Amino acid sequence: KPLQLIDRFGRVVNYLRVSITDRCDFRCVYCMAEDMEFLPRSQILSLEEIRTICQAFVELGVTKIRVTGGEPLVRKGALGLLREIGGMPGLRELVLTSNGSQLVEMAADLRAAGVKRLNISLDTLHPEKFRELTRTGNLQRVLDGLAAARAAGFERIKLNAVIMKHRNHDEVVDLVQFALDHGLDISFIEEMPLGVVDRHHRGESFYTSDEIRRDLSSRFSLQAIADNTGGPSAYYRVDGSASRVGFISPHSANFCGSCNRVRLTAEGRLLLCLGNEHSVDLKRVVREQPGDMAALKQAIVAAMQIKPEKHEFNIHEQPVILRHMNATGG
Ligand code: GTP
Ligand code: 5AD
Ligand code: SF4
Repeated sequence: KPLQLIDRFGRVVNYLRVSITDRCDFRCVYCMAEDMEFLPRSQILSLEEIRTICQAFVELGVTKIRVTGGEPLVRKGALGLLREIGGMPGLRELVLTSNGSQLVEMAADLRAAGVKRLNISLDTLHPEKFRELTRTGNLQRVLDGLAAARAAGFERIKLNAVIMKHRNHDEVVDLVQFALDHGLDISFIEEMPLGVVDRHHRGESFYTSDEIRRDLSSRFSLQAIADNTGGPSAYYRVDGSASRVGFISPHSANFCGSCNRVRLTAEGRLLLCLGNEHSVDLKRVVREQPGDMAALKQAIVAAMQIKPEKHEFNIHEQPVILRHMNATGG
């Protein structure tokens, strides 16, 4: 029987999310403060250390690895790392979450490196609003990147949109229409309170998945489907199209009972839950016992014992979790 990672609640962990850098060329309002300090190089795992840790997870039964950031594609050597991870025997899916800013240049190489699916953040279709929400991003560049990604032949491309009242809640119909027109899937995300952000009031802009479904019902007929990517989205089929609309509802429909994932931060902490601080320092293991795969695997197996049952986010209070999403692996 193949090895499996199992936690105290009987949940099988087969999905690893890896943040390969905390750096990003955007400063999305819900993710970062305007003025961020990034980690010094020495504190970040090397590409070789990331590869080793991924290898250990795959040997322990992980079948899906999602590479994230920050913006993963701003890290030098990202492509080579992806190629190595993509070639690991036993891994079924190498997938990537990106802000899309580098895809014009990189989409074709990513596909060739073995990335199967892409998730791209897109919260608005208006250039000025895009600049407002990302602070530094350029919408046209991302749209061009998206076109390059479609041409590169990924199995699926999903848009991720964090929906906020009075910021972009009036665009949900247009975003779905955009996804339909371009043969994409789209997931709407309820904002989570991670890290202190400035000039953005999460409690005031909170918008639920139910509200979005209500807004969409005026234009589309959505059928719930059992379809599952192993992520937290609950999916619906839009009548008469191949696109799927997903809802990630950490507040209104907790999905922790079926959690199958853990995260490796850019610093090499293994985070057992996005909404808790329970973690194990794998960087220390790989640096103090280099080459000792057995010790690394033992640390990973032991970590499953401290995976918490669920997150307890409260969007109306100051964040309890002070680390920002970019350091966390989206
Ligand atoms: P698929 O493989 O396409 O299902 O991707 P995914 O939805 O797992 O990953 P993606 O990187 O697109 O993440 C979408 C949103 O889901 C982000 O805001 C993530 O932070 C959030 N998310 C992913 N996993 C978890 C989780 O375990 N807990 C919580 N609270 N949010 C999560
Ligand atoms: N709450 C919800 N989603 C967030 N993301 C970044 N920060 C937050 C947050 N505070 C999203 C990004 C990206 C995905 C990986 O996580 O928009 O699509
Ligand atoms: Fe960068 Fe993604 Fe955070 Fe936006 S959400 S600032 S693109 S890491």
